[in-house]
Amino acid sequence: MSAKIISVANMKGGVGKTTLSVAVSQSLASGAGARKAAKVLVVDLDAQANASFWLAGQAALTEQIDQGKAIDAFLEDTIVFGKAPSMQDIIRPAKALSDHLFLAPSSPNLRLVERELIVFLSRRHRNLMEVERVVSDLLDQQLATLRKSYDVIIFDTAPGISALTEAALRLSDLVIVPTVPDYVSNLGLLSFCRSVAWSSNDIPNATKRLPWVAANKVKKTKHHQLMLEQMRAEAGAEFNMLKTEIPSSPTIDQIASDLDMDGKLAFDAAGAEVFAALATELVELAARPAPQVESAA
Ligand SMILES: Nc1ncnc2c1ncn2[C@@H]1O[C@H](COP(=O)(O)OP(=O)(O)O)[C@@H](O)[C@H]1O
Ligand SMILES: [Mg+2]
Repeated sequence: MSAKIISVANMKGGVGKTTLSVAVSQSLASGAGARKAAKVLVVDLDAQANASFWLAGQAALTEQIDQGKAIDAFLEDTIVFGKAPSMQDIIRPAKALSDHLFLAPSSPNLRLVERELIVFLSRRHRNLMEVERVVSDLLDQQLATLRKSYDVIIFDTAPGISALTEAALRLSDLVIVPTVPDYVSNLGLLSFCRSVAWSSNDIPNATKRLPWVAANKVKKTKHHQLMLEQMRAEAGAEFNMLKTEIPSSPTIDQIASDLDMDGKLAFDAAGAEVFAALATELVELAARPAPQVESAA
């Protein structure tokens, strides 16, 4: 096994990063459509911990956080206290959704820990770039082991700027940017997509690595349809567009808003179908060989 790494990211909140991460993971892990069930790990890098609440349920997540088995404690133990824990130790099954689905949970404390890491490392004369490098090297090292145990690893990232998001973007085979096709949501989209292309440990190849925009909460309104048309016309230069569009749906909203479902995920048939289509599209893209760089000679 060598897992494909997919990050779901956008500096804007509320665009569906967590909804897509969880729904696609569940679809992949349950083998929806004609696919074989994949073994999937969701890594929650958002201090809001929505994906963790969703996949573990509130009681189990609270217990796990109290035991220091979330990503914040893992980072602090490794970077600040110099211990050598393994991310494997914080991973838990998300069995209620699928036997093949696993979670490395986050905790609200992650925000404090991220700050602490920056202060800790800058006191040791590391600048922000180096902080990102420390976090990215650590994740990379953990992924070397985790890749062998999963088919797909999905990072659900935080809105805004975070060293962890940056690290996840660098290490991903595929970056998915959910967005709502309206004027306000699209304001920062292009600059975010540019920043993704350059978030790479492989700078010469960076511009080849375009993020894939996923249109979410799509309505049949003229405004949404025009915006989508324009985005599809612009695709190919600084971002690509996924074929699958996720409609604005009250069932999706209801399920994704009720984060203490203890693992229940009951989209209606239309919702399940659209996330299965999205999952298939992502698997196909992730399987494509990395783009070749033209030699300078
Ligand atoms: N396709 C959709 N249709 C309707 N509501 C949606 C859809 N996707 C997400 N939502 C709702 O939008 C809100 C934000 O979604 P979320 O996945 O938490 O975004 P993010 O992780 O980007 O902050 C949630 O309340 C969720 O229920
Ligand atoms: Mg989220």
